[in-house]
Amino acid sequence: MRTHRIAVIPADGIGPEVIGAGCEVLEVLAGRDGDFTFDFQWFDWGSDYYRRHGEMMPADGVETVRGFDAIYFGAVGDVDLPDDLTLWGLRLAICQGLDQFANIRPTRLLPGVDGPLKPALGEAIDWLIVRENSEGEYAGVGGRAHRGLPIEVGMDVAVFTRAGIERVARYACEAALARPRRKLTIVTKSNAQRHGMVMWDQICGEVVEDYPGLEVDWMLVDAMTTRMVLDPASIDAVLATNLHADILSDLASALGGSLGIGATANLNPDRSVPSMFEPIHGTAFELTGKGTANPLGSFWTANLMLEHLGEAKAAERLMQAIETVTSRGETMPGDLGGKATTAEVTRAIIEALGAA
Ligand code: IPM
Ligand code: MG
Repeated sequence: MRTHRIAVIPADGIGPEVIGAGCEVLEVLAGRDGDFTFDFQWFDWGSDYYRRHGEMMPADGVETVRGFDAIYFGAVGDVDLPDDLTLWGLRLAICQGLDQFANIRPTRLLPGVDGPLKPALGEAIDWLIVRENSEGEYAGVGGRAHRGLPIEVGMDVAVFTRAGIERVARYACEAALARPRRKLTIVTKSNAQRHGMVMWDQICGEVVEDYPGLEVDWMLVDAMTTRMVLDPASIDAVLATNLHADILSDLASALGGSLGIGATANLNPDRSVPSMFEPIHGTAFELTGKGTANPLGSFWTANLMLEHLGEAKAAERLMQAIETVTSRGETMPGDLGGKATTAEVTRAIIEALGAA
């Protein structure tokens, strides 16, 4: 019997509700399969923890989760605390501390879900965005000086390194090659940013030479938004910098029907440390505590985590159950036009797993 040790960090907002639902579904999957089991360890880190302890997680938090097989993360942020404190104190601290340099964001329009595009266009969406997740515009390098004076200055320096570009480009090439269409679009902004972005183009260009089986094209990030809306079928895998992919992936999830469905994985592909899996929707304070949050994003997230843990069969069963529920359309959460509660959607998934 394989046991997967999972550090569960639900954190803030609707995180605890949707991650709780995700763990319930994962337990059912493990129980039905019989070959593997989960050892979930819960951590109460986040904004409430900060109010009690003055920090978002203990100083040795990253070391504590280092020994786990994966991290299942909810959402972080608080109306009363600055975003840079909550994010850098927890989520980004873990991503950077464990060097989870490749962030992946799959998008598909699930059956029964209406996206904002015309049906034929929307149904063509089948994308994998690979986001550089350790440097670039999110490197955390910069500073502020002369606060409050007329000469006040603030700088965020985008940092690109050869090693950082090369490793994420290699990851993106391999991920694209593993997909049926074997296409990779590399996003850039080297027409305006003439140092780091030009180096990005150059090093990505060197890496793709090693993957002759791949069809590669290049897009400026602004033009990429247009192409995503007007010609989604032409896109397969996408590689972009930290900030560019942040923006493009929100657009992707809107075109995929709802931010409530999207899933993401922060991967350290060499597997020497755990990778972190999270729904992309964030805290959603307006829904918090009402029991109506859409848990499908955390289920799709669980599917990514199962794949990473080598449980391909269970991952596939879970994705099928999600698609069964959305295509039936009877148990849709509010953001997908229905009235079902978190618990009702969870129950429907568990029933669909039984039938699968
Ligand atoms: C995301 C989020 C985060 C990001 C925020 C919350 C810092 O938008 O995961 O895409 O920009 O990385
Ligand atoms: Mg984002």
